[in-house]
Amino acid sequence: MKTLLIYSSRTGNTKKVAEAIGETLQVTPVPVEENPSPDDFDLIVAGYWVDRGSADGQMKAYLSRIMGKKVALFATLGAEPDSEHAAKCLENGAALLGAGSEVVGKFICQGKVAPEMVDMMKKMFPAGHPHAMTPERLARIERAASHPDAADLAAAQEYFGNLRKAILA
Ligand SMILES: Cc1cc2nc3c(=O)[nH]c(=O)nc-3n(C[C@H](O)[C@H](O)[C@H](O)COP(=O)(O)O)c2cc1C
Repeated sequence: MKTLLIYSSRTGNTKKVAEAIGETLQVTPVPVEENPSPDDFDLIVAGYWVDRGSADGQMKAYLSRIMGKKVALFATLGAEPDSEHAAKCLENGAALLGAGSEVVGKFICQGKVAPEMVDMMKKMFPAGHPHAMTPERLARIERAASHPDAADLAAAQEYFGNLRKAILA
């Protein structure tokens, strides 16, 4: 089965996860900027950083070009990976896929939020605004700061190792 492992990463979190998955699947991760043709592959493993509840712009465009393929998605985000928000961020990515594509797996873990993003949110959103920097939000950002950690990378490897076995079975 010819596998493409493609990812987009702004600050390196998703790249780290992609590299861990690449070790397990024994494929070299390809940055989305290289723009490989999805048509040349049977399985596409596509990873993105979550941008406002969905895939970032570059991966959004790429996902919509994938037609009639088996696709496994992975992502990193600032919020808790077991939150409704996280589930929605994966669903939103899946909804972007081109006609006939089938989602065969989904994995998500936390990734530290860039400090400039935190500063920007503090400046842009005053108290009371839905995106204002509340103590809960700050605590979440602090929890994300150590991710992806070794346990996240191990979980990604386990997930994709099992997925490969299931697909090849
Ligand atoms: C512009 C912007 C928008 C973001 N939107 C979200 C979001 O909607 N939900 C969330 O949980 N995290 C959000 N994040 C946090 C990133 O998804 C997270 O830090 C991710 O791990 C970054 O991955 P990267 O290092 O591969 O670029 C956002 C970050 C930025 C910079």
